Amino acid sequence: MAEDLGFLKNDITLATRAIHVGNEPEQWTSMAVVPPISMATTFKQDGPADFKKYEYGRSGNPTRECLEKCLASVENAKYGFAFASGLAATTAITHILSAGDHIVSMDDLYGGTNRYFRQVASRMGMEISFVDAVDVNNVKAAIKPNTKMIWIESPTNPTLKLVDIASVTSLAKSHKNIFTVVDNTFMSSYFQRPLDFGADLVMHSLTKYMNGHSDVIMGAVCTNREDLRDQLRFLQNAIGPVPSPFDCYLVNRSLKTLAVRMEQHMKNGIAVARFLEKHPCVDKVIHPALPSHPQHELAKRQCYGHSGMLSFYIKGNNLEASKKFFKQLKVFTLAESLGGFESLCELPSLMTHASVPAEDRAKLGITDGLIRISCGLESSEDLIKDLDQALNSIVSFD
Ligand SMILES: Cc1ncc(COP(=O)(O)O)c(C=O)c1O
Repeated sequence: MAEDLGFLKNDITLATRAIHVGNEPEQWTSMAVVPPISMATTFKQDGPADFKKYEYGRSGNPTRECLEKCLASVENAKYGFAFASGLAATTAITHILSAGDHIVSMDDLYGGTNRYFRQVASRMGMEISFVDAVDVNNVKAAIKPNTKMIWIESPTNPTLKLVDIASVTSLAKSHKNIFTVVDNTFMSSYFQRPLDFGADLVMHSLTKYMNGHSDVIMGAVCTNREDLRDQLRFLQNAIGPVPSPFDCYLVNRSLKTLAVRMEQHMKNGIAVARFLEKHPCVDKVIHPALPSHPQHELAKRQCYGHSGMLSFYIKGNNLEASKKFFKQLKVFTLAESLGGFESLCELPSLMTHASVPAEDRAKLGITDGLIRISCGLESSEDLIKDLDQALNSIVSFD
């Protein structure tokens, strides 16, 4: 188990469910212990519209169904749906709304979600307000008679602010017809399960921790609500952003190691954060497991641990220092994305969050000296050595 940092006690059956739910050998005539990859795009019918379980690969596929059952189980949900990417999952959720509906969105969120709301959903006639959801009063103040959806991320990307999920969901429930969505990508189902805190939908970019091997782009939505299940099932088929059976096989396989991977990501992330906090070439480290994090106590109430994500401000807080640091890295790779077995780092201001308007980036503290790190599964000693030598190379910028 993870180092005891006072987090909530995790459900130890999650590791078992990730291995077995949706993967029962009895469902196959061969009794295969590993689900087969069913590549068929269509299924034979006994008579017109007289089919057994599946009719066409977009509306349902056996390999995808194994994954969807497993995803629902690890998220403590009744229903799970897989999509071709995290953004495809976001798109499907947003299609539950209609023109004229209003969305209250967290202001500090994945750049692609921000771009989707600003440049796509708004063109479809939706109204979006971006607020700092760290203070639930800002969410409350933004609610209008036509508000239908509240969208939050916790921790946020890349500044790792936490939102009190239970406060936001109880606010939403005090209104008729508002549902809350939590993007749980940064934590994975292993370290945070927002449905348990009242969320209506949980969205994942499975591309990240849930798959964890940087070789699949995929998304998911999980829910306990039957009305939302029906809408999602309809939209998954009607819009059509479904993943390939082969990719479903890979993500289902990756879930078998989710628990052990996440424990290691957490250990490495905390070791690196503690190291960076003492380094003279680092101005500030942001990691919710550090007592210096302003919402450290909320993390303990809401999370079962922490992923390998952290951000830090490099000394000097400027582009030259950041560039010099990236150039020197040997183990960390400069690349977008996160949650894979390999350690990555990136500069959100020019990479993942370049599409966020400059004034919003400035407000959020996404400067050219803010570096985001995704600690992989290498040895923490090697990660620390690599960061140390790269940071020491910037001293000439003092
Ligand atoms: C927090 C978060 N949500 C959503 C997405 C979008 O997911 P995808 O890249 O799978 O479309 C990302 C991708 O980086 C992300 O980091």
